[in-house]
Amino acid sequence: MTTSTGSKYGTGQRTVTVRVNGRDVTREVSTRTTLADFLRDELDLVSVHLGCEHGVCGCCTILLDGHSVRSCLMLAVQADGHAVETVESLSGNPAELHPIQESFAEEQGLQCGFCTPAMVLRTKEIIETGRELTDAEVRHEISGILCRCTGYQNIVNAVQSASAKLRCGAAGAGCGTAATDDSTGGRH
Ligand code: FES
Ligand code: FES
Repeated sequence: MTTSTGSKYGTGQRTVTVRVNGRDVTREVSTRTTLADFLRDELDLVSVHLGCEHGVCGCCTILLDGHSVRSCLMLAVQADGHAVETVESLSGNPAELHPIQESFAEEQGLQCGFCTPAMVLRTKEIIETGRELTDAEVRHEISGILCRCTGYQNIVNAVQSASAKLRCGAAGAGCGTAATDDSTGGRH
């Protein structure tokens, strides 16, 4: 339910309820507050990284109802009644990594880590489609998120590794031969 108290210039406040990482959160927010600022400043979910703040870098990517969106381009009030996932939700135990996070660590799919929460969430979304992707397809699927330091190849490897773990189990049982690679190189 929303309660509008704002002016015609959008400077008012609204009460929003957003399901964040499995819990309903109700807050009064400015109608001008972005979803990214709401998550970071109100809820302390600082895995949501702000780079460009105008929809280019993709580092603020979160999952909204299971789909990746740039949280700097959404207002918090637009998330009212929706479900948001950030990377903080992945592992139920702070001492343990989710298999996607494990794969990024094992494959050295991160350096400074600035793009990593977005890459990890995008990887979750990709894997949940159930499709087996070639490396070229993985590169296409992650192309909305800019990484300035890995050269991408290790991220592609991490996505493929996590996909194999989650689709096939740790031992790879039940999956056929991996999708064939392309020859486009690491950076795109
Ligand atoms: S901070 Fe949102 S796309 Fe760059
Ligand atoms: S790991 Fe540094 S921006 Fe991607």
